[in-house]
Amino acid sequence: MTKPRLYSGMQPSADSLHVGNYIGALLQWRELQDSYEAFFSVVDLHALTQPIEPAALREMTRRTAAQYIAAGIEPSRSTLYVQSHVRAHAELAWVLSTITGFGEANRMTQFKDKSARYGADATNVGLFTYPVLMAADILLYQTDIVPVGDDQKQHVELTRDLAERFNSRYGTAFTVPIPVIQKETARIYDLQNPASKMSKSAESEAGILWMLDDPAVSAKKVMRAVTDNEGSVRYDRETKPGVSNLLTIYSALTGRQVASIEDEYAGRGYGDFKKGLAEVVVSEFAPVRERTLEMLADPAELDRVLASNADRAAEVADATLADVYDKVGLLRRV
Ligand code: AMP
Ligand code: TRP
Repeated sequence: MTKPRLYSGMQPSADSLHVGNYIGALLQWRELQDSYEAFFSVVDLHALTQPIEPAALREMTRRTAAQYIAAGIEPSRSTLYVQSHVRAHAELAWVLSTITGFGEANRMTQFKDKSARYGADATNVGLFTYPVLMAADILLYQTDIVPVGDDQKQHVELTRDLAERFNSRYGTAFTVPIPVIQKETARIYDLQNPASKMSKSAESEAGILWMLDDPAVSAKKVMRAVTDNEGSVRYDRETKPGVSNLLTIYSALTGRQVASIEDEYAGRGYGDFKKGLAEVVVSEFAPVRERTLEMLADPAELDRVLASNADRAAEVADATLADVYDKVGLLRRV
């Protein structure tokens, strides 16, 4: 039996991924690669929609790919590749843009937020068509499911609409994908400001646990995390967001139930709890960090792995694109 297809990706927009990316994306992906034929991309074309230094983009692309692998995405099993290595993405995005309504694209809340934040002069057309490129990513692979955070749900809904529109206008070329939205228990908040999601764009470093942080630095960040005055290790997202976030991280990294962790630390202070969590964080990420740095020390080997995975991806993508070109009436080149 062939397995259903899964597609997801992340932008290469930081030197290190953080614990939110790890728990919210990579851990889920790692688990799903058993039951799905999975495609995971580093979406470097999407990253061009933000101001980014060329040399830094190249470096962050390798780093992001290396962290996928170090976290357990297996390039021999799942197809892990760099978006720009498969030309069909940009080509399908063009065709899809011709069946996307201007008003439809203009309703995307992420675009509205970003363009309001940057101002009209700094808002490029790529930012506007970003969701169309994302639809191309997904549709090229006849994807069944797309695991994403809830901020990306609207983009996957647009992808579904475009797939259905194309299929009914030109004949069926695409599988219509289903979004699988990240569970609340996989959402990680800032250690200093537990009302906000942990994010690479946070004001201060102190609240972000980077996967590639030196272990001593991670331990220190955990010890300094914001808690409350109650002194009891208990999950309550409303009144104890700091402690609850630490419990979520503890639980996600150990696979233990929150209740069992609460029991273990009952009657003990936050100091003990944080020490325990710091050990969990260090023992999880020290090997991930080491594996990542090892791969980055041999970029030629990493580049070879990415190239052979891109070949595998292109085989699937090129077949879909050829079918689309035929269906819309582009003259086939002999
Ligand atoms: P981003 O860093 O926003 O580009 O997100 C990349 C991936 O990591 C997406 O799948 C997000 O859902 C996930 N992610 C980002 N931040 C968090 C967070 N604080 N908690 C859980 N998942 C996150
Ligand atoms: N836009 C997604 C994000 O910001 C990244 C992404 C690009 C993606 N293409 C994708 C996610 C295809 C899932 C499927 O997180």
